[in-house]
Amino acid sequence: MVKSLNICILGAGNWGTSLARLLANKGLNVTLWAYEKEVAEGINNSHKNPFFLKDINLPEELRATNDLKEAISGSKFIVSVVPSHALRKVLEDAKDFISKDSIIVSCSKGIEISTCKLVSEIISETLTHIPEGNITYLSGPSFAIEVAKDLPTSVVIAGANDQTTKKVQEVFRTNRFLTFTHNDTIGVEVGGAIKNVLAIASGMSDGLGFGLNARSALITRGLYEMIKIGKALGANPLTFTGLAGMGDLILTATSTTSRNYTLGFRLGKGEKADKILKSTKMVAEGYKTCKAVFELTQKKNIYAPISTEMYNILYNDKSPRQTAEDLTNMELHEELRTILK
Ligand SMILES: NC(=O)c1ccc[n+]([C@@H]2O[C@H](COP(=O)([O-])OP(=O)(O)OC[C@H]3O[C@@H](n4cnc5c(N)ncnc54)[C@H](O)[C@@H]3O)[C@@H](O)[C@H]2O)c1
Repeated sequence: MVKSLNICILGAGNWGTSLARLLANKGLNVTLWAYEKEVAEGINNSHKNPFFLKDINLPEELRATNDLKEAISGSKFIVSVVPSHALRKVLEDAKDFISKDSIIVSCSKGIEISTCKLVSEIISETLTHIPEGNITYLSGPSFAIEVAKDLPTSVVIAGANDQTTKKVQEVFRTNRFLTFTHNDTIGVEVGGAIKNVLAIASGMSDGLGFGLNARSALITRGLYEMIKIGKALGANPLTFTGLAGMGDLILTATSTTSRNYTLGFRLGKGEKADKILKSTKMVAEGYKTCKAVFELTQKKNIYAPISTEMYNILYNDKSPRQTAEDLTNMELHEELRTILK
């Protein structure tokens, strides 16, 4: 069954390109939809993506197109790797070409800035003809470049229907790409979105030169914040101890490969957010997600000091040093007071 699958991947950035390579190398028939015409042409003509993962050779069998209809037609296995800020528009444009018995694998991490909605809500509002059981979410600690180099990686595939998640698990699994199934889609989504905001905070702490004690505490207090937000949205708190929670948080919040960490590091060194964001073509999703998280926590009355302070730095030009002062002078209380009660 898996061998003869026609797969469409929407989004040819770092992650979409890396996953397309992985699936095409398994012998699957993969078509990659690229937002930029030059990207599709580069992949078809030179088997390299000219903008993302530029040095990685792609399989000759991998086809790319700039045309959504062409990319989707003939495929009932759609992998969406569009950044969350562009997802609603791309799915609206794509929905008429996606048949109702398709399986959807969403790989986007983030919360929609204008609505504070999770990726699952964007999908259910746009792909109204696809049953919930056909929709899955792939997440976990997975830098695209490492997957593109076949370095060992583990992710989760979450979804409401066990049969579907098992099928997706089998499609993606290689001996270097381990896929675990999960049924807490909300928890998996929240983990993947909020870790980007926390990575900015962690990078900023390092940029300020605060040392490893501070960074470790920040990551752990950030995990607590992630659990509180997740719980308020209906997630199982234990999900955050897994790959899509702590796993992805450790990766993103401790590595210079992460663009969110790097954004934070540069903020800590004194650069302004708008200048940093203008200097790269890649999307530091945590920047946008931070605003959505701030609004969500205000609306739901969740005490989330780290995300709130990150919002103040990114959107209200608060100084990182003042933020650090405010966080270290905060009123102290029981460590895990709200989730243990
Ligand atoms: N890069 C990773 O290692 C990684 C790993 C796991 C998950 N993800 C998630 O995958 C998603 C894609 O990330 P990425 O790293 O591939 O992104 P990227 O920054 O590498 O590329 C951005 C992609 O979005 C496209 N794009 C930009 N504006 C667009 C628009 N208006 N409409 C449609 N497409 C547009 C670009 O052409 C490009 O393909 C994100 O949600 C990210 O969180 C990324």
